[in-house]
Amino acid sequence: MNEITPTVKTETAASPACARAPVGLLAELTHRCPLQCPYCSNPLDLERSNVELSTADWQKVMREAAALGILQIHLSGGEPTARKDLEDIVQTAAEVGLYTNLITAGVLLTKERLARLAELGLDHVQLSIQDVDPANADRIAAYKGGAAKKREVARWVKELGLPLTVNAPIHRQNIKSMSKIIDYAVEVGAGRLEVAHIQYYAWALKNRAALMPTREDFMKTAEIVEAAKERLKGILVIDFVVPDYYAKYPKPCMGGWGRGIINVTPSGRVLPCHAAESLPGLTFDNVRDRALGDIWLNGDAFQKYRGTDWMKEPCRSCARKEIDFGGCRCQAFALTGDATNTDPACSLSPLHEEWAKVAEVESHREPPEFIYRRVGKSSAQGGGSDGSQTDNL
Ligand code: SF4
Ligand code: FES
Repeated sequence: MNEITPTVKTETAASPACARAPVGLLAELTHRCPLQCPYCSNPLDLERSNVELSTADWQKVMREAAALGILQIHLSGGEPTARKDLEDIVQTAAEVGLYTNLITAGVLLTKERLARLAELGLDHVQLSIQDVDPANADRIAAYKGGAAKKREVARWVKELGLPLTVNAPIHRQNIKSMSKIIDYAVEVGAGRLEVAHIQYYAWALKNRAALMPTREDFMKTAEIVEAAKERLKGILVIDFVVPDYYAKYPKPCMGGWGRGIINVTPSGRVLPCHAAESLPGLTFDNVRDRALGDIWLNGDAFQKYRGTDWMKEPCRSCARKEIDFGGCRCQAFALTGDATNTDPACSLSPLHEEWAKVAEVESHREPPEFIYRRVGKSSAQGGGSDGSQTDNL
């Protein structure tokens, strides 16, 4: 049975919506980004700047989000600081009582701008890093000098008294740095470290063979993280996300479809998850045309896989169906061609064995070159790595 039942159509986000509100809104302010990480979760078909929502549109989204009962806004991208009006958006979000988290690669920030954002009400900074080894970090991001700049930004965040989370996506080409990444987070004064093995859809699926770690390396990181969690109690909280390909059960992607998170793309399309546009047969409403609360409750895309009624076996009769909600719809579609199939990350999926074998094979082969994330085209390893690449901005 669906946990969230559509209401009679409403034109505004009124109190009935608040009772079942998403906790967070992921605001992809832009797909522009000076970095070119080959595991980016943005779609392969990146949205260009000329279709982006205006300042007033985003301010309306902030007000509607607060009215819907959303608590946290994750200001993301691409690189959200590429938006010149980030200050206006943060100010409105703070005025309507939203907790604002800036998810940034940091390389475009100045201390003055960060201080201004803090003054206007920014609550938290989540800084992404590619590795602790500067040369490898800059190679992964295809951006020279990025690693050094990030250290500087981490220092500013602390000097301004803002809470800091370090986010280090983990994969084959940085997995050996796990211990040093934990040390780095402590050194820069982060209160939280997210070490999430990357999810294989969008750019990461394109680069899977270059990014898939071996099971042995993954097991070692699990041990390192467990020991560090114990050692650093009260100093650093570590969120560790294991790679799907080596898991027994999948994660409840987005906490379950249409359950806790709402995602708005740079052009205003409202999605149940950031990869939802990869699924066929879904239509997405736009914040320019329909109120956020109405989209959340009644939008077709949100209804499609909400709850458990859509499930097939083995999920349908599984005791975990309301724990993991059958895993990830986008991964199920990407790997099986049917979004209603059980996510092959699940050991109960008939396709799991075959799928886990692919990971074993790919992770032991020589990795191919990266296909870098680029607007309109992709480039092989080395392209644009001089930091002068501007057509992503
Ligand atoms: Fe989760 Fe479905 Fe696997 Fe059960 S069969 S554990 S519900 S993915
Ligand atoms: Fe879309 Fe998991 S990324 S459901």
